[in-house]
Amino acid sequence: MWKFDKEMSHLVRNADGDELLFIHQGKADLFCDYGHLEVTEGDYVMIPRSTTWRIEPHEPMFVLMIENTDAAYTLPDKGMVGNHAIFDPAVLDVPKIDEAFKAQYSEQSTQVHIKRHGEVSVVTYPFNPLDAIGWHGDLSVVRVNWRDIRPLMSHRYHLPPSAHTTFVGQGFVVCTFVPRPIESDPGALKVPFYHSNDDYDEVLFYHAGDFFSRDNIEAGMVTFHPAGFAHGPHPKAFKAGQEYKKKFTDEVAVMIDTRHALEFSDEAKQVENQQYIYSWQEK
Ligand SMILES: [Fe+2]
Repeated sequence: MWKFDKEMSHLVRNADGDELLFIHQGKADLFCDYGHLEVTEGDYVMIPRSTTWRIEPHEPMFVLMIENTDAAYTLPDKGMVGNHAIFDPAVLDVPKIDEAFKAQYSEQSTQVHIKRHGEVSVVTYPFNPLDAIGWHGDLSVVRVNWRDIRPLMSHRYHLPPSAHTTFVGQGFVVCTFVPRPIESDPGALKVPFYHSNDDYDEVLFYHAGDFFSRDNIEAGMVTFHPAGFAHGPHPKAFKAGQEYKKKFTDEVAVMIDTRHALEFSDEAKQVENQQYIYSWQEK
């Protein structure tokens, strides 16, 4: 998670892999090799490897960044539901060489922080290298907002989370849970069953709404369920699911399911809620 501040004026270029930003809070102008793009709350912004970019926040920002090390993001296989699921490719937005972009052309000395093999080098250009006057091709920064995602659902079948896959990385997927009707058939499973992920570490980032299978979770929180550890809905959600009181979920959450065992940084350890395990206790 990054908190962007106004002082971050240098450019960055990540040569280690594609980056995916999910804007949890805030609004900004993003300037990159491909032009200018306005980004806002709820946007996914995919930045291809080695793109030079910087962000100019209009307000404090809270951003989830998912680096796809040594690989490129792709879209999932849509199978029999076709290419227009789960969003129409026509909604994908790309940067433009517009007036705002031209206004930042400059001969001022500009630093680019380049990350390769986990190390950052600084290269100073005697001008601003974000000076393209045009581009063509199919490689670009791409933006899509969760509001453009039209979730798959069935009234009888609780679709597995993989049905909500939005991006595929190397050894992991990024899924988006967006508001959708809850299964209405009396025999249908309405909340996820209790499970231990046999193969995947599971990370959920809670963006907005009422998180239907979890109590004690607020927007901006992350849960981490490593492979092999059993978990499932909290007691209140389990009961509500059985009674079919709630007809619709209004949650927005980003899930990262990864085949690689995740490591915890010291920063993550400092903010860990060690009481999380007790959140399943009935009150
Ligand atoms: Fe799970």
